[in-house]
Amino acid sequence: MKKTFIVANWKSNFTSSEADFWFQRFKNYDLRIMNKEIIICPSFTLLSEIESVIKNYELGFKIGAQNVSPFDEGAYTGEVSARQIKEFADYVLIGHSERRTNFNENDEILFKKAELSKQHGLAPIFCVQGIETKIPSDIAIVAYEPINAIGTGRPDTAESAQEVAAFFKKNYKVQYVLYGGSVTSENVKKFTQMSNIDGVLVGGASLDAQEFYAIIKNA
Ligand code: PGA
Repeated sequence: MKKTFIVANWKSNFTSSEADFWFQRFKNYDLRIMNKEIIICPSFTLLSEIESVIKNYELGFKIGAQNVSPFDEGAYTGEVSARQIKEFADYVLIGHSERRTNFNENDEILFKKAELSKQHGLAPIFCVQGIETKIPSDIAIVAYEPINAIGTGRPDTAESAQEVAAFFKKNYKVQYVLYGGSVTSENVKKFTQMSNIDGVLVGGASLDAQEFYAIIKNA
């Protein structure tokens, strides 16, 4: 049975009390789910608190950051370094299209982020928009997120995602490929049942605890 990654990308949502409300709902769900790596990616402000909640509720979830500084620690006002993130998280999203578009992050910056993350023991989940996206040679986890599928309710087809996933596994040392873009509890299985797709990256639908639980169950 293959391992399936279910990643919640909360983006810039949730205050501390809202995150707490989300986890309160989750407390009631049965989480003895085999072979699923569930990763919550909250804002930096919530990392510490979420680490405690996950421990207290014995949820077994992992934590990912949504971003990381392209510099090591030091005089970089406003940045959060890989070493600081590693205190709370095991994963980090790098190269999300919202960062490429809104924050002008280019390949050079993204490759630096990936390198520093790996140096400090964080596993990058490197987001690609298609087969033309460049990735560092040592990336193990890629998330394929076609731009026009993000937040639109119009996911890619599972067949097309399967082809992109096969490309990255064939041409790089990529071990796992996730699909992201308008994933819901209704369509998740279409993607996870494909042989080259190892999980999903979920944005909007992850903000509703009940819907996210249904995605985990149905994946
Ligand atoms: P979406 O976002 O699920 O809301 O389409 C996915 C993402 O941007 O990671």
